[in-house]
Amino acid sequence: ALERTFSIIKPDAVRRNLIGKIVTKFEEAGLTVIALKKIQMTRAQAEGFYAVHKERPFFGELVEQMIASPVVLQVLEGEGAILKNREVMGATNPANAVEGTIRKEFALSIGENSVHGSDAPETAAEEIKYFFSDDELVG
Ligand code: CMP
Repeated sequence: ALERTFSIIKPDAVRRNLIGKIVTKFEEAGLTVIALKKIQMTRAQAEGFYAVHKERPFFGELVEQMIASPVVLQVLEGEGAILKNREVMGATNPANAVEGTIRKEFALSIGENSVHGSDAPETAAEEIKYFFSDDELVG
């Protein structure tokens, strides 16, 4: 089915001027960018976005990394976009990521792993709404 998913190009990748290379990987996989913006995430936004991980030992470091410098937010659309995005990203831990994936090529560590992507239809809808209004989605 035609799906929409949410993507963050994280500070570690934006700082290294990898925006274009990462967007190219999504586009070459058949995903279409229907919304895109660069923001400096606030602490409150980062804590709210990752609230599901609040009790995890890495939560504090995760929030610090996400607000250290700007991020690029995208909504990607395509057939099976949620799974496709996850395939293009590769495993959360770059040590486990398959050759050719974003995280294999660009991630520095499990925390500074260059991209975030929604893991399921419900979270995709929630995450898109968290950062974008309907009129910003140009399909
Ligand atoms: P992301 O997809 O953004 O969702 C939560 C993030 O927490 C994850 O990618 C990682 O960057 C980060 N993280 C840091 N340590 C861990 C860990 N041990 N397990 C899972 N995620 C971690």
